[in-house]
Amino acid sequence: MNLFNVYPLFNINPVKAQGSFLWDDKGEQYLDFYGGHAVISIGHNHPYYQNKLKEQLGKISFYSNSVQNELQTELAEKLGKLSGYEDYNLFLCNSGAEANENALKLASFHNGKSKVLYFSGSFHGRTSAAVSVTDNPEIVAPVNYSGRFIKSEWNNVEQLEAIFETQGSEISSVIIEGIQGVGGIMIPTVEFVTKIKELCEQYDAVLILDEVQSGYGRSGYFFAHQEFSIRPDIITTAKGMGNGFPIGGVLIHPEFQASNGLLGTTFGGNHLACAAAIAVLDVIKDENLIENARKMGDYIENEIKDFPHITSIRRKGLMIGIELDRNCSEVRSNLLYSHHIFTGNSNDKSVLRILPALNIRKEEADLFSNALKTVLENISIQINV
Ligand SMILES: Cc1ncc(COP(=O)(O)O)c(C=O)c1O
Repeated sequence: MNLFNVYPLFNINPVKAQGSFLWDDKGEQYLDFYGGHAVISIGHNHPYYQNKLKEQLGKISFYSNSVQNELQTELAEKLGKLSGYEDYNLFLCNSGAEANENALKLASFHNGKSKVLYFSGSFHGRTSAAVSVTDNPEIVAPVNYSGRFIKSEWNNVEQLEAIFETQGSEISSVIIEGIQGVGGIMIPTVEFVTKIKELCEQYDAVLILDEVQSGYGRSGYFFAHQEFSIRPDIITTAKGMGNGFPIGGVLIHPEFQASNGLLGTTFGGNHLACAAAIAVLDVIKDENLIENARKMGDYIENEIKDFPHITSIRRKGLMIGIELDRNCSEVRSNLLYSHHIFTGNSNDKSVLRILPALNIRKEEADLFSNALKTVLENISIQINV
């Protein structure tokens, strides 16, 4: 059997990882400044994380959600404390798309309405409702289309108000990323976010904050939206939550009523996943990684801001978008093949997406900025955006 060929692959086969580094099957070392799409939050194979998982493997790895699981309670308590959402309830699942799918469903159960407002540039996952609120027609299949999903322009308050004026009574929820990741590190304005919150309250629509990529300390806040002092009705999370172990979560305002069978999953919240997620929270707290994300983000921006070919830097903490005066693919390949540094791209072809682990050190930041400087100084003249 062959693999279903849906991923364009780099010809690199990592077999070992530690901290911010990977090693391939030939023993070559790579610096990881992308974390496999923002997944690596506390660094690869953190010893505390490894021990927690090993310990858990020696006890029990899985039983279904039909029995007590104290690890889920511990995870919910720790997540509530560290995120500042102690009064919210937690539903555990397995991925970002699944978290958003459940959030959209829960909103609709809650207010009985069916339309969803989403934004240009958004990415919310590939399951049915999640992909319908994702702004990429290439990954939306005919089976996903319906008239229920309304797109509004990012950071455009007037358009938002106009849509609510005509369809507000039918809108069940608004879904927005804390910071758009796949869209090219797009940061919402405070005016935009505040208006969304206000309109949701006015029209009884549920505000869903997708913090799958921007959450878990990446932005220098536990959740990126916390910079704006708004409290959404539902928050979704995944990626950095398990540092590579698949887990997702939906944080739900206490006014939402749970009932048996309303939501469910076989694997969500299993013992191993919870052990991984608890370890991540312990490390983020004990090693002050949110503070480190702020500090190292500032440091990197300061180091690279005057490099040639950079037209702007969009950034919060260690969620960094470096906009170039050209398509970033040549720079990205150069960083990877000549300097052994993993970085990411985005739907905005000129934006290099940088998402290192939250515990990177100055030495690692310097490796990256020195390499970027060399690449940008030696870039071909041609502008090819
Ligand atoms: C903001 C956001 N939401 C949801 C998802 C989907 O997450 P997953 O791939 O775990 O389903 C992603 C993935 O990139 C994302 O960036």
